[in-house]
Amino acid sequence: MKTPRRLIIGVTGASGAIYARRALEALAGTDVESHLILSKASEMTIRYELDMSGADFAKLADHRYAAGDVGAPIASGSFKTIGMLIIPCSVRSMSEIATGVTSSLLTRAADVVLKEHRRLALMVRETPFHLGHLRTMTSIAEMGAIIAPPLPAFYAEPQSVEDLVDQSVGRMLDLFDIETPLARRWGEDLEKGKRP
Ligand SMILES: Cc1cc2nc3c(=O)[nH]c(=O)nc-3n(C[C@H](O)[C@H](O)[C@H](O)COP(=O)(O)O)c2cc1C
Repeated sequence: MKTPRRLIIGVTGASGAIYARRALEALAGTDVESHLILSKASEMTIRYELDMSGADFAKLADHRYAAGDVGAPIASGSFKTIGMLIIPCSVRSMSEIATGVTSSLLTRAADVVLKEHRRLALMVRETPFHLGHLRTMTSIAEMGAIIAPPLPAFYAEPQSVEDLVDQSVGRMLDLFDIETPLARRWGEDLEKGKRP
């Protein structure tokens, strides 16, 4: 039997729960299964920013796991996935992943993705960064992870917050070769980028 394409989605307590919601909505229109872990702190940001409970938010995913369930399938490298997207990623979770001293299923799953040389993308959300944050990002990039903060792409001519969110989420899913209509592409959708 063919293994389905599975993407682990980690949501932390950094600001930007809207990015995670959009990613899950977009994945629902693809053949990729979403496997979701919410950190404890994310339940707070989901409540503040989206006015939703963690339980209702989790219904957007195909599969969901409790943050403390370190016996879940995604805690093992033998469970095949195409990788993990942490969206948004807090400095706290990023730092934990960088050390390998993982204290939850979210960071354990990220550690497994790294050890299996699968793709790990961190939508790190903090500003400004101090030198320790920058060093941690360097160290985690050296381990093979992709650091991708949600910086707006103004060339894509956003007209709304939703446009900004879609562009960032679409480009994150591009990293896993997942086709969605979210990102506007230079040279394709954007007239200015076209050449005769
Ligand atoms: C409304 C709100 C916004 C926050 N925004 C950020 C943020 O943008 N980046 C960040 O690193 N932490 C942010 N935090 C703090 C994290 O939630 C906190 O460090 C938490 O311990 C992260 O835990 P986690 O990585 O397990 O989710 C925010 C907290 C709240 C309540």
